[in-house]
Amino acid sequence: MIIDNDDDLKHLKAIGRIVFETLLLMKKSLKPGISTIELDRIGEKNLARYGARSAPILMYDFPGHTCISINDEAAHGIPSGRKVAPGDVVNIDVSAELNGYFGDTGATFTVPPLDPRIEYLCQITRKSLNAAMSVARAGAKINQIGQAIERTAINAGFTTIRDLGSHGIGLSLHEEPHFIQNFYDESDTRTLSEGQVITIEPFLSNGASSAVTADNGWALLIGEGNRSAQYEHTMVITKGKPQVLTAL
Ligand code: CO
Ligand code: CO
Repeated sequence: MIIDNDDDLKHLKAIGRIVFETLLLMKKSLKPGISTIELDRIGEKNLARYGARSAPILMYDFPGHTCISINDEAAHGIPSGRKVAPGDVVNIDVSAELNGYFGDTGATFTVPPLDPRIEYLCQITRKSLNAAMSVARAGAKINQIGQAIERTAINAGFTTIRDLGSHGIGLSLHEEPHFIQNFYDESDTRTLSEGQVITIEPFLSNGASSAVTADNGWALLIGEGNRSAQYEHTMVITKGKPQVLTAL
């Protein structure tokens, strides 16, 4: 959506804060031995505390309140009895709706013992999000977002997962502009507008550049041994730096 009034902004900030707080709360409990469904219940409870509704359930009938993806799952992992193990790479993605407005945030966490190469992947993925945010302003071409992400990834020796992208958001979880590539697409002539609400969510990997849907119909797999990292914020495009909505 493109916002032009304080009321829209107020509602978007409210749900942005709720999903971000929920993500941080789930992260606190991320330890070896906890199952992903237990983590999901922590998210479910916190969303319910505010009367917010899980967006994956609302929009897609997803079998979980949040997406929790481990190791070779890049995204859309289904909460289950699977227990978090030492050395796991865990992505938690929280999106929800309140009063008709949506927020979406995600982050990748590592469970000790830490692998320096994976820590570097996480660091570079955060860097690529910052690089993309620094070019995402009113009037800029949408493909500058993917260009900044891809450049940051390649310079560090990593790949971008090309089937996963950023997106417009606001009155729906996924709306115009649909699918903002995480790589440079020369043919994309779309531009960003002031007040436009989008997510930026780079997916970087230590080898994969595509994902396939698992037999469970949801989880996106990048191949055994491959790992990915994703960090996501919802933001409003301005003439300067984007205004991040998924913050406390
Ligand atoms: Co998300
Ligand atoms: Co998203």
